[in-house]
Amino acid sequence: MNADVILMAQDSRVAIVPGSFDPLTNGHLDIIERSTRLFDRVIVAVLTNSSKRPLFPVKARLAMLCEVFKGRAVIEVDAFRGLLVDYARAKRARIVVRGIRGATDFEDETQMALMNRRLDADLETVFLAPSESNAYVSSRLVREIAALGGSLDGLVPPVVASRLATGRRSSTLRRA
Ligand code: PNS
Repeated sequence: MNADVILMAQDSRVAIVPGSFDPLTNGHLDIIERSTRLFDRVIVAVLTNSSKRPLFPVKARLAMLCEVFKGRAVIEVDAFRGLLVDYARAKRARIVVRGIRGATDFEDETQMALMNRRLDADLETVFLAPSESNAYVSSRLVREIAALGGSLDGLVPPVVASRLATGRRSSTLRRA
């Protein structure tokens, strides 16, 4: 490896966008796309050992993410368990990206960023704001709208909308 290549490897900025992605929303997409404009490589990392009871199993969430980011060399889809700081170290990433939609997010996210910094002083958290049209989109509201049969137009990517519709149809069938 020549000196230029070594320098490039050291300079390349790897960012992790961690989350539950249950399911992936257009708000997540917005933040991930913005991250690709700022960093050389973006790792979208799904937490596998969350205490939350998920709607979609991790495998299904990863499959949807892979489908959405198919052909995007700059984006890697991965799963992680345990502490985010340990995962970031293993990936040689020093930047975590989180989306901030408003004041509530800011409070929660600052707390998490500071705790992560306490656990690993080399890990920086970067907050990005989504576009206004995605500022009120959340996985929780998407799950609720999907369960009650509301329109998900403009809230989630098509692959997620169709998985949610299939899930709703099969649970309706189960209840019938
Ligand atoms: O999409 P979410 O649920 O808001 O994502 C939260 C996530 C996965 C980023 C956060 O819970 C996390 O990083 N969990 C890993 C465990 C960890 O490192 N906990 C200490 C954080 S201060």
